[in-house]
Amino acid sequence: MEKIIDENKQGNSIILDQKNENSRKLYIESYGCQMNFSDSEIVASILTNEGFNTTQNLEEADLVLVNTCSIREKAEQTVRKRLEKFNAVKRINPNMKVGVLGCMAERLKSKFLEEEKIVDMVVGPDAYKDLPNLIQDIDDGRNAVNVILSKEETYGDIAPVRLNSNGVTAFVSITRGCDNMCTFCVVPFTRGRERSRDPQSILEEIKELVGKGFKEITLLGQNVDSYLWYGGGLKKDFEKASDMQKATAVNFAALLDMVATTYPKLRIRFSTSNPQDMTLDVIESMAKHNNICKYIHLPVQSGSNRILKEMNRLHTREEYFELIDNIKRIIPECAISQDMIAGFPTETEEDHQDTLSLMEYVKYDFGFMFAYSERPGTLAERKMEDDIPGDIKKRRLTEIINVQQKHSLYRTQEHVGKVEEVLIEGTSKKSEDHWMGRNTQNTVVVFPKDVYKIGDFVNVKINDCTAATLIGEAVGYSDNN
Ligand code: SAH
Ligand code: F3S
Repeated sequence: MEKIIDENKQGNSIILDQKNENSRKLYIESYGCQMNFSDSEIVASILTNEGFNTTQNLEEADLVLVNTCSIREKAEQTVRKRLEKFNAVKRINPNMKVGVLGCMAERLKSKFLEEEKIVDMVVGPDAYKDLPNLIQDIDDGRNAVNVILSKEETYGDIAPVRLNSNGVTAFVSITRGCDNMCTFCVVPFTRGRERSRDPQSILEEIKELVGKGFKEITLLGQNVDSYLWYGGGLKKDFEKASDMQKATAVNFAALLDMVATTYPKLRIRFSTSNPQDMTLDVIESMAKHNNICKYIHLPVQSGSNRILKEMNRLHTREEYFELIDNIKRIIPECAISQDMIAGFPTETEEDHQDTLSLMEYVKYDFGFMFAYSERPGTLAERKMEDDIPGDIKKRRLTEIINVQQKHSLYRTQEHVGKVEEVLIEGTSKKSEDHWMGRNTQNTVVVFPKDVYKIGDFVNVKINDCTAATLIGEAVGYSDNN
């Protein structure tokens, strides 16, 4: 997922929605999942109304915010290293204030203030609307903490300020929190219970993006397939809703349908799907609309039924295959990607082989693969010993990555010789003379710039490929411009 962010960050970086009368400078940095990047845009919006403009220059910042990730220990270490850097800058600029947002803030709460002396403010993912008060506190010389998780908060009424934007692709969050309680995962503890956002406010945000010239949106949630709007409230309380609320509820397939029908020229992506919650009507909605991209990120984590059970992933290997078969039957060209965890507690060599053989069956287009990292407070941490030695985790991870490399190349080769529609997102990282964009399957395509510009939909003939990139030449505008 981090990789996707990297790609999105390239291109002509523009900052929208600055206010001339604002005098204080906000520097904001984000780590982890797409939702964090999206949340930072909400935070920037709230602070724009508090007299701040964003800056990309750390040295001149009055307020530095870091939106943090707790998903693996390494993610937390990265943030701690950044805090050291901020400390060095603070020596030059003593008035600079530092706030920690996101999952580490929620996990560590006020302990953060003791552990990292540089931190003035700790704000959890549901408390951003309280930022004006919290900033007042730190301006008055008090440390500030708000890590209250909410039943309602979806920030649906806030128009995000687009940060580091290429002006073409944007995130739109549709659910917050997660109820799935995978035993390895810290997210349900840091982001709270699942709530969905009012479809009208989703459509309004998209309308604004379309008005500004954006061409592609990604609907975001920890678990998008469990999107359910019935007038507000937690997903787990849906059973208690009135008959009227139940009859008019909007699920994810209906939301996709609504967005795709309202904006037929807009490209629509979504992330992340959980196999246990993905239903056939979602795949059918995708098939029905040309503008819904033919790509599903469908993390499985392991190919072993025993490990899936220990992880509290509520499906079997066989059910996963059935879902994959259904996707490929309904949308033969659909790309699929995975997340995998190597070395979950008790994983045997046989379990690991099951993971490799599952991969052989699916032949994923790409994947995000990790060594298991024990997270404090999770069920796995409380109930299981982190008993797979580091070198074995690493070896299994390498084997998984190697198989994925092979499959990625197998998949990219399938595109060679075809003409595919690509949305131009920016200049290629490797060459000033080439554009970088994606096809519907989310594969990166590079090709000579020619007469085209950022935001154009172009038909590209694919001539060559690596495991990660398609290389081609534009043969004209596509019908979608
Ligand atoms: N549903 C979320 C999942 C967030 S975590 C989403 O929107 O993507 C992203 C990935 O990190 C997971 O799919 C899993 O593969 C990995 N992960 C989560 N907890 C982990 C842990 N404790 N150790 C290693 N990898 C982990
Ligand atoms: Fe984490 Fe599982 Fe939810 S990976 S975000 S608990 S679906």
